[in-house]
Parts: sequence; structure tokens; C-alpha cells
Amino acid sequence: MDGAGGKAMNHLLVFGLQWGDEGKGKIVDCLADHFDAVVRFQGGHNAGHTVIVKHEKKVLHLLPSGILRPQVHCLIANGVVLSLPHLYQELQAIDMDSTEAQARLSLSCNCPLLFHCHRLLDQAREQKRTDAIGTTCRGIGPAYEDKVARRALRLSDLLDEKRFAAQLKELVDYHNTMLRHYYHFELCDYQSELDDLMSLRDYFLPMMTDVSAKIMALRSAGKKILYEGAQGVLLDIDHGTYPYVTSSNTVPSAVAVGSGVSLNDDIHKLGVVKAYATRVGAGPFPTELHNEVGMRLARQGNEFGATTGRARRCGWLDVCALRYAIAVSGVDSLCLTKLDVLSGLTELRLCTEYQGASNGYYSYGAQTCAAYKPSYYTMAGWDEDITGLRDGDALPAAARDYIDYIESFVEVPISIVSTGRTRDDSIIRQPHFFDCRQTA
Ligand code: GDP
Ligand code: IMO
Ligand code: MG
Repeated sequence: MDGAGGKAMNHLLVFGLQWGDEGKGKIVDCLADHFDAVVRFQGGHNAGHTVIVKHEKKVLHLLPSGILRPQVHCLIANGVVLSLPHLYQELQAIDMDSTEAQARLSLSCNCPLLFHCHRLLDQAREQKRTDAIGTTCRGIGPAYEDKVARRALRLSDLLDEKRFAAQLKELVDYHNTMLRHYYHFELCDYQSELDDLMSLRDYFLPMMTDVSAKIMALRSAGKKILYEGAQGVLLDIDHGTYPYVTSSNTVPSAVAVGSGVSLNDDIHKLGVVKAYATRVGAGPFPTELHNEVGMRLARQGNEFGATTGRARRCGWLDVCALRYAIAVSGVDSLCLTKLDVLSGLTELRLCTEYQGASNGYYSYGAQTCAAYKPSYYTMAGWDEDITGLRDGDALPAAARDYIDYIESFVEVPISIVSTGRTRDDSIIRQPHFFDCRQTA
């Protein structure tokens, strides 16, 4: 199959180019039908990926969004921090019985486990900081810290129950010391943490495997794989608005370390970008709108966090930041989502540079980014409701101009335009690009 630009495209990576919530879940669900397997490779249950199937809304946190396509195998690779109690709840929430779950889901033996003590630490820190990050309070940061500090327990550690119990005791004691003496916070109860894990052990161990070897075997057998990113490039631990970021790498190269496979040329990198900008939690946001337009975007776009339910901050599309995100990622084509939300605005603005900093290259650490004052390019809006439109030629001229402007500014083709929440609501602009609509 050919991708944008005629490049051979056996595998696909879908990832976010802003501060998360770009609509990755919808696009992965749309496209998953063309693939044999979907892989999550970073993040944890801080992600919230919304999928609408037959008018029913499902929000997936740890489960790959391919799980709702019965023929698709789903894999959680080593780069993901894994909360087994949360994963269990998610499987219950989609009514998947253990036989099907064990047949369709593979978990890497190298996944670091995320425990209740990580969650407590995350909450304690957020409460103590004067400049809170606004994390999801799911324990993601502390779990990654344990991994890097080489004291994490991994899924394969569950094989030896006795050793696991002793290691967990050491870990809980270690974190309780901080929780008690530094944070003066609620402590983690070792016995209930252990009991929870032990009650899930027999359920999850049959799903444990060498995910990296499994992906390589699938590739060798000619199977097609979709890699599903979480968060977005501006939340990347190295390249995002540090310290207001998540604790994993969210750029495409994270696929290689996070799943143990090489990032070959035959993986098409599809960067997802919302037609405007949103952010949940604290941190700089140069194009944020504190006016009626911002409120309108929030209302029309139903901008509430899929994981925490928090209101998302809204603003104009920052194509300058988009150009940066593309530069640090390497992108083959773009998917522009939520274009329908812009209908009814008389004019649209795009941030094309920052005042007084126009040497063409911008960095996005929190200090520098907080000082950026946007300069806008203004375009005409459109009145027509374009929800569910599938034919690009039927778009109002102003909407086509908006798409063309973004495309030419960042010099990357837009292969999909999403015009609504359901699988069907998409315009496929590149001939031969995976057409998600035929199978919806
Ligand atoms: P993700 O984290 O990137 O998967 O995105 P979320 O699911 O957190 O947030 C995206 C929200 O926008 C969800 O409520 C989706 O149902 C919705 N959505 C996705 N694409 C579109 C679109 O093209 N138009 C509209 N109106 N909603 C969309
Ligand atoms: P998806 O995959 C939007 C944000 C949090 C916070 C920062 C750090 O749905 O796009 P963390 O809990 O990761 O330590 O929080 O990152 N954040 C997200 N924002 N979408 C997400 O995931 C996010 N995952 C984390 O709001 O600002
Ligand atoms: Mg989300």
C-alpha cells in the first residue's frame, strides 16, 4: 500500500503533535481495521482516548484503541507503565471476558508496574508544590522515576511470588518514608497493595510475553502493525514545555525504545493535530483565549479531559509550535481533527510567529515559551455545518483555504481531515491512504 508521497506504508504510527487530546483514539479506531495489531509503547493510564462505536462512547486509557475491533490483536509494550488494577477495570468496562482478553491482549514482561504508592506520591507532590504541574495524579511520574532508578518491579517479577512480596515491601517502605516524613501524607498499605496484585496475578500472567519478539514475528510474517502514541509532542519529557510535561518521550522515536523494534522506513508517521489548540493542566500556552471565542471552542468541542474530566484550556492553532513539533518528530503526513468545531466563527487566527523572537527557530521550554507573544495571521471563517462531511470538495472554500494554509506553512501534507466524532466522519485526502470509512 502506498502512503502520502507514494512511500511504501506497511505500518503506521499515530501520535499527537500538541498537548495531547488531538483525537488520536478516534483515528486509531478508524484505521485499526486495516491492521493486524495495535501497540501502545509509552505513557500509562494518564492517556484518555475516546472512541465512539454505534453512538456509544468508550474511553480507553491503557488498552490500545484497536481493542474494539474483534480481529485486531493488542499489545502493551515495555515503554508503558502498567497499573494492573486499572487494566482489569478497563477490561471489565468493555465487557471483555478473560478468555477473549487472554487471546487478544499481550503484555510485555518488561513493563514496569505502577502501584498505589505511586499515585499517593503524585498526589502528595502536586499538593506540596507551589507551581503544581496539574498532573493526572495517576502516579505516572513516580512510576517512571522508579524505572530509571532501577528499583521498579516489572510484570515478569510476578512469576516468583515470594521474591515479589519482598521486593514490594522494600519499595512501599521506601516510598512511605517520603510520604510520612516529607509530605505528611496518607501512607500506602503494603498488605492491601500485595493482596490486590496477587488477586490479579493468575488473570494477567497468561497475557505476559516478550512483546518485542512478538512484534518482530508479526512483521516477519507480513502482518501490519499500528503504533498508538499517547499524549503529544509538547508534553514530551525532553522536547516539551518542561517541567509542565509528562514523564515519557512522546515523539515517534519512542516507538523504538518503547517497543523494542527499529523505527523502519516502512512505518508511516501520522501526526495528529487539532484545528485549534487545547491544554489540560498548568504550563505555558501562548495562544490561549480567555474570551468568548475560547469558551465557544470549549463548548462546541466539548473540551473536557477524557481522563480527569477537567476543563481543557482552549486557544487558536499555533502553527509555529506545530512546525517545531514536526521538526523534532519527523512526520510523513498529518491528520487534522475537529475542523467541524470551527464552523460559525467569523474569523480564524493562526499564530505564525512570536513578537520579538522572529529568527525562525523557537524553543519550547516553559521559561522561553511563557514569554512568547503570538503574532497572528487572520483568515475568514465559514458558517456551514460540516459535521460528518466525507467529501473534501464539498467543504466551504474558507475551510479549504484554512487546510491549505496549514499544509503550506508546515510543508507536510494533510492526509486525513476529521469532521466529527464517529468512525465515518473523515475526509481522506491522499489517494490510496488507508480509507477508514469503507469498513466503518
Ligand atoms: P486523544 O487523547 O487524542 O485520543 O483525544 P481525546 O479522546 O482525549 O479527545 C478528543 C475528543 O474529541 C473526544 O471527545 C473525541 O470524541 C472528539 N473528536 C475526535 N475527533 C473529532 C472531530 O473531528 N470532531 C469532533 N467534533 N470531535 C472529535
Ligand atoms: P492523551 O493520550 C492531555 C498532561 C497532564 C499534565 C501533564 C503531566 O489522552 O492525549 P502526568 O499525569 O502525565 O504526569 O501529567 O501531562 N497529560 C495529558 N494531557 N492528554 C493526555 O493524554 C495527557 N496525559 C498527560 O494534564 O499537564
Ligand atoms: Mg485524551
